[in-house]
Amino acid sequence: MGTQTDLFGQTVTMYSRPACGGLLKWIGNKYKMAEEICSHFPTEYGVFYEVFAGSASVLATVAPQRGVGSDTFGPSIEIWQTLQSDPELLKEWYRERWDRLMAGDHRERYEEVKASYNANPNGADFLFLTRSCYGGVIRFRKADGYMSTPCGPHRPIPPESFARRVDEWHRRLINCIFQQADYREVMSQAQSGDLVYCDPPYTHSQSILYGAQDFHLEQLFVQIAECKERGVFVALSIDGTKMSGGLVCDLPIPVGLFEQEISIRVGRSMLKRFQMNGQSLEGHEVTDRLLLTY
Ligand SMILES: C[S@@+](CC[C@H](N)C(=O)[O-])C[C@H]1O[C@@H](n2cnc3c(N)ncnc32)[C@H](O)[C@@H]1O
Repeated sequence: MGTQTDLFGQTVTMYSRPACGGLLKWIGNKYKMAEEICSHFPTEYGVFYEVFAGSASVLATVAPQRGVGSDTFGPSIEIWQTLQSDPELLKEWYRERWDRLMAGDHRERYEEVKASYNANPNGADFLFLTRSCYGGVIRFRKADGYMSTPCGPHRPIPPESFARRVDEWHRRLINCIFQQADYREVMSQAQSGDLVYCDPPYTHSQSILYGAQDFHLEQLFVQIAECKERGVFVALSIDGTKMSGGLVCDLPIPVGLFEQEISIRVGRSMLKRFQMNGQSLEGHEVTDRLLLTY
């Protein structure tokens, strides 16, 4: 538990409990680890930023008094903005597609939503695809950005359950602003005493996941150093999979940039399984690294 100052400069107690169920189903999200990650945040800070928001699991866990969620991926930002401005519409988007799926051949109906999304990428179709695609693995074809994941074998959650999640997430994110923007633009707005949480794309594996093509970790380290210089707290999650005691990914982490490194237990991760092409995770230490500038 920590405190945050609200818009009027009042100190407000923050709780770091995860929401009852994710809104988007998104492989590699930080939903299960969010509570542990938040437990390492400073006890006091100003504005909370999640600059690679994705499915916004850490943002929704913090449920900040003043928060900013940003991502370059337009359809997910459209979902978050709609959650705030018109939660009933979000429920309707989901219900309408769920009804269509249930009324016909699942695979065919799923492919119709996917075709509609690929013809015109949009939040309404994307929301439903995350909940119904195979394993929540949102894959985009490298050449043209085509969303290529097949239909999952599971039954997507019923509209009533989804609607309950919308209500809870709406309450949690009510004090946040959502922007479609590059992390560099948003991080440069953070001021002394603010907290920035970064969960960047996976650099050493599937660049098709989460549009990682144009992302360079070295540039993120430059932004983090500038934030630290200005007195902004930064927490960075990085894949920490180890094999036989050695690091698989040797990251170019600048010496002295981070003051602490914490291992976060990942447990049985779908993403790790996916990254390793279904090989056994035996002998692999499945953890994430949380690096802190404070
Ligand atoms: C690993 S995911 C974040 C997952 C998130 N923490 C969650 O729990 O769902 C990385 C995100 O970074 C976004 N992204 C990629 N390049 C970016 C950039 N240059 N600026 C901001 N966001 C970017 C992707 O669209 C993706 O949503």
